[in-house]
Amino acid sequence: LIPAEAMPESGTPASRIADAAASSGNLPWIEKYRPKQLDDLMSHRDIVSTIQRFLSEGRLPHLLFYGPAGVGKTSTILAIAGQIYSKREFPTMVLDLNASDERGIGVVRNEILTFASTRTVFSAGFKLVILDEADAMTKDAQNALRRIMEKFTANVRFCLVCNYLSKIIPALQSRCTRFRFAPLPSDSVAARVRDIAVAEGANLDEAGCRALVRLSGGDMRRALNILQSTALAFPAGVDEAAVYACVGHPSPADIRRVLQHLMNEEAPAAHAAIRELCADRGVALLDVVTELHELLGRVDFPVSVRAHFYIRLADIEERLCAGATDRLQLSALIGAAMEARELLLMEKEKLDREAGQ
Ligand SMILES: Nc1ncnc2c1ncn2[C@@H]1O[C@H](COP(=O)(O)OP(=O)(O)OP(=O)(O)O)[C@@H](O)[C@H]1O
Ligand SMILES: [Mg+2]
Repeated sequence: LIPAEAMPESGTPASRIADAAASSGNLPWIEKYRPKQLDDLMSHRDIVSTIQRFLSEGRLPHLLFYGPAGVGKTSTILAIAGQIYSKREFPTMVLDLNASDERGIGVVRNEILTFASTRTVFSAGFKLVILDEADAMTKDAQNALRRIMEKFTANVRFCLVCNYLSKIIPALQSRCTRFRFAPLPSDSVAARVRDIAVAEGANLDEAGCRALVRLSGGDMRRALNILQSTALAFPAGVDEAAVYACVGHPSPADIRRVLQHLMNEEAPAAHAAIRELCADRGVALLDVVTELHELLGRVDFPVSVRAHFYIRLADIEERLCAGATDRLQLSALIGAAMEARELLLMEKEKLDREAGQ
């Protein structure tokens, strides 16, 4: 039993996390911990406060949310809808269409038009049409929406949600107030992940949390999915090694070892060692190359060596993406390292000469 004083104060985001943990046991954590209220959303403070102002003045415009995956766009509009409408009103006042629904012109002409054109008899105020993943709508469907949006503004507000703004026709963009949802900052992801790990009893340590944040790239959905699968696969604790092993991504320690092999061993030994490491960890050479690029930025190499590595790594990455085999491209990586070693020697001789003069 948790002592009463350790329980989060009721009505706070922390208490809602605790409530969610106690209920809906077998839902994936991304749904179980989907923010229910605008206050529960991490980050995006400016967007939330602007929308709260619109709502309190009763002047909500048509909205367009865009930004990368897993940063809270769908959660925000669902929380807004939850704030405007009671549970009873929700089914009649909100039309929520997402990518799993048909997105052609037929939907606009039938479902959306019917919903928008029927007046609400028992409730005052406007209805809400949520078009999630609106970038999947055909151009024809978007064009057909232009007129409906204008004609029924008194009765209906639209919220378009998408990843790629460029896929929304300019005419629709100009009818909406746009909000860009940026990738979530590291501290927001870390804070949420820590709270959820505590609520779920997952033993997450600091290095594990840093690894989650890093792999998430600001995508909270990804962070929570990795946390859940790692907690399942490694019940003893979610640490750095467990997180990287679970996603099949090389850990920083693995990459340091790869660089050691590359810079210190002869070609056949380095080839064998790196192949073994990739097989053992189940990681792809492409991920090794991308992470190596990160690490090289932090190693104190002379400019010429670093430039040489960058150019070679870019070539190898391109070939791997085009479908070249790992085996040959690993040899190319080793070849690049051998050249880098020559360059390093030359740099050192140059320095020695300059010192001797
Ligand atoms: N800002 C946030 N604060 C707290 N949790 C978040 C936030 N953003 C995302 N999440 C978590 O990630 C899950 C997915 O978020 P959401 O569906 O809102 O993403 P999205 O921006 O709509 O992504 P997509 O573009 O892929 O549809 C949520 O259920 C929630 O658990
Ligand atoms: Mg979404």
